[in-house]
Amino acid sequence: MRDNYPIKTICCIGAGYVGGPTMAVIAKKCPHIKVIVTDINEERIKNWNNKNLERLPVYEPGLDKIIMACRNENLFFTTQVENSIKEADMIFISVNTPTKTRGIGAGMASDLNWVETSTRQVARFAKDHTIVIEKSTLPVRTAETIKQILVSSESQSGSENTKTFSVLSNPEFLAEGSAINDLENPDRVLIGGDDDVAIKSLTNIYKCWVKEEKIITTNLWSSELSKLTANAFLAQRISSINSISAICEKTGANIHEVSKAVGLDKRIGNKFISPSPGFGGSCFKKDILNLIYLCKYYGLEEVAEYWNQVLSINNWNRNRISRIIVDKLFGTISNKKLAIFGFSFKANTNDTRESSAIQICKNLIEEGATLAIYDPKVNEDQIARDLNQKPKVNFNKSEILSGEWYFCSTPEEAAKRCDAIIILTEWQEFNNLNWSKLSVLMRKPSWLFDTRNIANYNLAEKYGMKVWRLGSENQ
Ligand code: UDX
Ligand code: ADP
Repeated sequence: MRDNYPIKTICCIGAGYVGGPTMAVIAKKCPHIKVIVTDINEERIKNWNNKNLERLPVYEPGLDKIIMACRNENLFFTTQVENSIKEADMIFISVNTPTKTRGIGAGMASDLNWVETSTRQVARFAKDHTIVIEKSTLPVRTAETIKQILVSSESQSGSENTKTFSVLSNPEFLAEGSAINDLENPDRVLIGGDDDVAIKSLTNIYKCWVKEEKIITTNLWSSELSKLTANAFLAQRISSINSISAICEKTGANIHEVSKAVGLDKRIGNKFISPSPGFGGSCFKKDILNLIYLCKYYGLEEVAEYWNQVLSINNWNRNRISRIIVDKLFGTISNKKLAIFGFSFKANTNDTRESSAIQICKNLIEEGATLAIYDPKVNEDQIARDLNQKPKVNFNKSEILSGEWYFCSTPEEAAKRCDAIIILTEWQEFNNLNWSKLSVLMRKPSWLFDTRNIANYNLAEKYGMKVWRLGSENQ
């Protein structure tokens, strides 16, 4: 009986926000291992291979340096899914798992179509013994599906070419915007499975840079459920603080003072209690919906309703902020111009999935406003896809528009002739906005709505702006 499967080549199916950075860090920390990242999206792979590192499909601080050092040394990006699978001793499945839009569980359960397709490819092309690792966030018991597909393709004993599989769950806890640091210094690495030899092989990889005591092993289902639970708890904290923000605004308490006072209790801690327009990102909503679906499946209606509230408050908060903006601007924003500062779901990423900015911008456009949108990393095409509306181009800047949006490359361009600046993402540069310059570009009375409490509002007020801040008593 062997105690370890030697790993020379790793393949990752899916070159997205999880697969790309995770494999880059493995390649950096394990120079003895060849790491191949494969994706069916040709454009994505082309950009991962682009000499111009500004064009990498994922923006993550520190990622470009790793790509520069490892790409075409021991890290490769390719659309050759079949060959990559054939060559690999270990395969990570890191494909997209969006919420189902139709059929059983629509709006709640994850669509496992991409997981199933890639697993079938693994079943078809893998050689010898292959460790298959579930990396995408998935509903509990997905590993079972992966196992069933793979086992049915295993070679019968006695046949000439042996093909066998071990299936592990190894959920990724990285947060976008700090992915490289999270991968290099994880709080824990979680490996779920029952094949001790495969677990040891994966542990050996992480041991290249993670202390052994931080690598914990569980059974498959605990591993899968831990990921959903961690994300549900984090999201719950944000909904909790956002609900208290609304009370602060009504009562004259200040959410930052409350958040600080509460967070100093060691049992609570100060992380994930910053108020915001609402949590976004590809994981929180999807994972809570998966949890709700699981609860409903097992008849745990009260538990399902409990977690559903975390999502309800998140949506309510976005709509609440949209309503406040309209109210403050004399009850109508039709024919008004509003500058949106920040579109990504959080700072330091170009990802807009489930960004609160999408809902808030849609609400404001629906009310007849025209939006001048600026984000340091999100491009015009992405915003158009998210808003489901093309930008207005080639228009006379003094023309009165209604229910349109256009893309701006600088905050100043967005602020020109607008009635309000609305900060939706906490990009560092919004800390130091030049209020003396911006305020003269705007129409009077000019408003600042700061949903992230990041701007220097004293300075904005000094230059004649009216200021509304989330979770504070406001004028
Ligand atoms: C999350 C988990 O943190 C990570 O462990 C998991 O692997 C994937 O999902 P991510 O979605 O990338 O990561 O970012 P995160 O930092 O968790 O932020 C999610 C959302 O919550 C963002 O919209 C952010 O702005 C918001 N947020 C976060 C708050 O509103 N307040 C906070 O205090 C923290
Ligand atoms: P995540 O945030 O989980 O990384 P992304 O959507 O950013 O999700 O990335 C998932 C990637 O997986 C996409 O680039 C998609 O093209 C890729 N993908 C989906 N199915 C397959 C498949 N069968 N083979 C290869 N790549 C796939």
